[in-house]
Amino acid sequence: MENGGDQTRMCRHIAIIMDGNGRWAKERGKIRSLGHKEGLKSTKRLIQHASDRGLKFITLYAFSTENWKRSEEEVSYLMNLIHLHLRQEMKFYKKNRIRVRFIGDLSRLNPSLQEEMKSVERDTAEFDGLTVLLAINYGGRDELRRAVQKMIDSGISRPVTEADIESCLDTAGIPDPDLIIRTAGEQRLSNFLMWQSAYSEFWYSPKLWPDFGPEDFDEAVDAYFGRERRFGGIK
Ligand code: FPP
Repeated sequence: MENGGDQTRMCRHIAIIMDGNGRWAKERGKIRSLGHKEGLKSTKRLIQHASDRGLKFITLYAFSTENWKRSEEEVSYLMNLIHLHLRQEMKFYKKNRIRVRFIGDLSRLNPSLQEEMKSVERDTAEFDGLTVLLAINYGGRDELRRAVQKMIDSGISRPVTEADIESCLDTAGIPDPDLIIRTAGEQRLSNFLMWQSAYSEFWYSPKLWPDFGPEDFDEAVDAYFGRERRFGGIK
C-alpha cells in the first residue's frame, strides 16, 4: 500500500497483536476458548481484507512463548484451532495467492502440527500476493537469544553488525513492520517483534479482537498515512 509514491510513506508490513478474545467470551458468559474460535473468524476476515488492499506482509501474534502459562485446556484448544485452520484453509490461501510462513520456536510444538506447518509453507511458497507470518511460540527475547546462539554456532570472529543480527532473526529478509496494531485497549509490546519494531508506528484500538473488522483496520492505516515518520532524522 502506497501513498504518493514516497518511500517513507509506504505501508508494506502490518503486525497485529490480536488481544481480547478471552474478554469477548467472558462478556457473553462463554468459556475463553470460544473467544479464540471467534477471534480466528476475525483473523481470516482481516487476512482477506489485507490481501484485497494489496498489503505485502502481515504478521499475526497467535501464540507467545508466555502463553504456555495458560491452562492446559486453553493451550490445547488454541493449538488444535491453529492446526485445523492450516488443514482446512489451503483453498483460501491458494485462491488469494497468499504465502504463509511461521516465526517462533516451532521445535516445541506437536510434531504433527510442525509437519502441517512445513507443508503449508511449501505449498504456498510460490505465491506472490500477501505473505502472512504467523507467530507461534514466538517471543522477541527468545528470537534474539536464538539469533545470538546461531551466530556463536557459526563461529563468527569479527565485530557483529546489525545486518548479521537481522540475518539470524526469524524475520530475515522481511521488511520491518511499518505499523503495529494492538486491540483490546492494552498499550504494550508484550515481547512481540522487539528488534523489528524500532521505528514502527503504533495504533491501539479499544475493540476486542473478535469485534475488530476491516473498517477498523482501514482506520488504523489511514491514521498511519497521516503520521510523519522521521526514523530518527529531521524533516
Ligand atoms: C489474545 O487474547 C489472543 C491469543 C493469545 C490468541 C490469538 C489467536 C487467534 C485469534 C487464533 C489465531 C489462529 C491463526 C491460525 C491465525 P486473550 O486470550 O489474551 O484475551 P484476554 O486478554 O481478553 O484474556
